[in-house]
Amino acid sequence: MINTLNLTKSFDNKVILDNITFRVPKGQKVAILGPSGSGKSTLLRCLSFLDKPDSGKIFFEGEEITKKGYNLNSYHKKAVMVFQNFNLFDNLTVLKNITIAPILHRLKTQKLTGKTRKQIQIEEEENALMLLKRIGLSDKALFYPSQLSGGQKQRIAIIRTLALNPLLMMLDEPTSALDPEMIKEVLELIKDVAKSDITMIIVTHEMAFARNVSDRIIFMDNGKILEDNTPNEFFDSPKNERLKEFLSKVL
Ligand SMILES: Nc1ncnc2c1ncn2[C@@H]1O[C@H](COP(=O)(O)OP(=O)(O)OP(=O)(O)O)[C@@H](O)[C@H]1O
Ligand SMILES: [Mg+2]
Repeated sequence: MINTLNLTKSFDNKVILDNITFRVPKGQKVAILGPSGSGKSTLLRCLSFLDKPDSGKIFFEGEEITKKGYNLNSYHKKAVMVFQNFNLFDNLTVLKNITIAPILHRLKTQKLTGKTRKQIQIEEEENALMLLKRIGLSDKALFYPSQLSGGQKQRIAIIRTLALNPLLMMLDEPTSALDPEMIKEVLELIKDVAKSDITMIIVTHEMAFARNVSDRIIFMDNGKILEDNTPNEFFDSPKNERLKEFLSKVL
């Protein structure tokens, strides 16, 4: 689904991503763990093209997306990102937050479907209402983000990406900004999404969650991948010394 080859990124002459090469097969759920400042967010930002890597290549479905002229619009529909701070549009209702991207995307490709703007809008609103029902927030469709709890905002941010029917979902510490009592509802939704065949890459500090949900866990430190293992091996018999030290602190 997504592969990288020697991905490198520096900020102010400091190497943040140091020759990252890894491949994620279709449908796999990958957790990324690592200490603060190890480059986890930078990696996701490069994978989602919010940051441009200095060198190296990224391949998505076999096609190099780092090459000049690649259609990033279509990539951003297929490969979506969920942020720690939700990044909802504060001035739009929940319904509009969910429908704006799929409507824009479909209008760009409208010629292919021959549907009117109104038809597309109605279809996307119906789909958004279905997604809201799935998370039990149907009554919030016309609310604004400021009227919601953190857990509600993050669950809406997640279903907003689902409205695009993505192939790859990247989540950067989706529960780190939440009060403890709201973490569970968000993790439950992510677990539910993980039952689908969407490929997922999740940066998290939730160890039990990483162990339960992922097929594979990657440990990053100083911009490098130091361990890449099955969840059981990762926690029960880690090989890398830095990882052993990290686990002894967090577990
Ligand atoms: N835009 C930027 N400009 C300068 N330095 C940056 C920028 N973005 C990240 N960095 C630096 O890159 C390093 C890695 O940051 P990154 O956010 O990727 O770490 P992280 O592993 O996600 O950490 P955390 O667990 O705290 O979220 C940090 O030292 C950070 O200061
Ligand atoms: Mg981060």
